[in-house]
Amino acid sequence: MKIAVLPGDGIGTEIVAEAVKVLNVLDLKFEMETALVGGAAYDAYGHPLPEATLKLAMDSDAVLFGAVGDWKYDKLDRPLRPEQAILGLRKNMGLFANFRPAICYEQLVGASSLKPELIAGLDILIIRELTGDIYFGQPRGRRIATDGHFPGAEEAFDTMRYSKPEIERIAHVAFQAARKRKAAGKEGRVTSVDKANVLETFQFWKDVVTEVGQQYPDIALDHMYVDNAAMQLVKEPKRFDVVVTGNMFGDILSDEASMLTGSIGMLPSASLNTKNQGLYEPSHGSAPDIAGKGIANPLATILSAAMMLRFSLNQPEAAQRIEAAVQKVLAQGLRTGDIWSEGTTKVGTAQMGDAVVKALG
Ligand code: NAI
Ligand code: MG
Repeated sequence: MKIAVLPGDGIGTEIVAEAVKVLNVLDLKFEMETALVGGAAYDAYGHPLPEATLKLAMDSDAVLFGAVGDWKYDKLDRPLRPEQAILGLRKNMGLFANFRPAICYEQLVGASSLKPELIAGLDILIIRELTGDIYFGQPRGRRIATDGHFPGAEEAFDTMRYSKPEIERIAHVAFQAARKRKAAGKEGRVTSVDKANVLETFQFWKDVVTEVGQQYPDIALDHMYVDNAAMQLVKEPKRFDVVVTGNMFGDILSDEASMLTGSIGMLPSASLNTKNQGLYEPSHGSAPDIAGKGIANPLATILSAAMMLRFSLNQPEAAQRIEAAVQKVLAQGLRTGDIWSEGTTKVGTAQMGDAVVKALG
């Protein structure tokens, strides 16, 4: 088993170091190789995703990724910006399925902005299609309008599109995830989020997901318009089990869902391709405002490493051990600044990593 470790910029290096510490104390044999990515790679080689970094990622079973980006790169041409590295990895590795669990740990119920009874016990999974939709659809560009409301005016346009195989494969991922969750005691339901009332692309999405759903009679399927889904996520988040949606809606809804759980510093993510090769990263960015201070929360990255063990490295027991260790540390009252509250103990990034290592026994 080979893991490419790409810490990136800002707090990326600090939080990935803690996840590596945790991986190192498990009794598992894997090879870890580190490479520069993002702004760190730009500084060293003049490119955010050097050939050697991409090759390492493509040749590995899994990529453990920190975060990229810093305001100091804002003036670079778009292809040289740190964020292009993550888009390049997604595209080259074919990472079409993005998993974002939103789990509210019992010990952190008070850290959310929602009422405790709404989020206590929350455990939902948002699955976002990651390589299609309006983010990648061609044609796109700027031109002088020849029709529309203002012919002759400057305009910009993007194209929303999905092919049947793209929708089918993400739908299968969602139904299979719901099936696994059902086996572990969850409801076993997929909610497909669309905008079928307005967009042809998403009427097609709805039709194809419905068709795929017929192959999963044990899993319930419902459909919801994206505007209603945005509302229901804060009104009654526990009504969801697995949510599946397109790239743009998923981008927005998964960020919204992340706030249900208290802090973005707690949220892992996984992006998978058809070979179960995956890229695992915290949902947050490089947090330049706190970088270098040793105060970032490493738990999202440590929990991403657990997802890596489960999805790409076939080590579900090790994944569970890490998740249990994280809960144990929270139960001990240890908190980084982002999740700290009165009566708990504030710790730094490395202390939090050490505590997880200790809890692993
Ligand atoms: P951010 O997620 O880096 O930070 C948002 C806020 O959350 C900040 O106040 C930050 O201090 C806090 N925060 C984030 N992670 C934390 C952690 N582990 N512990 C404690 N507090 C944490 O988002 P922002 O500020 O919008 O972007 C900063 C940079 O990160 C930008 O250059 C952006 O492009 C990049 N970015 C990179 C991503 C990636 O690598 N996949 C994803 C999102 C943003
Ligand atoms: Mg986002």
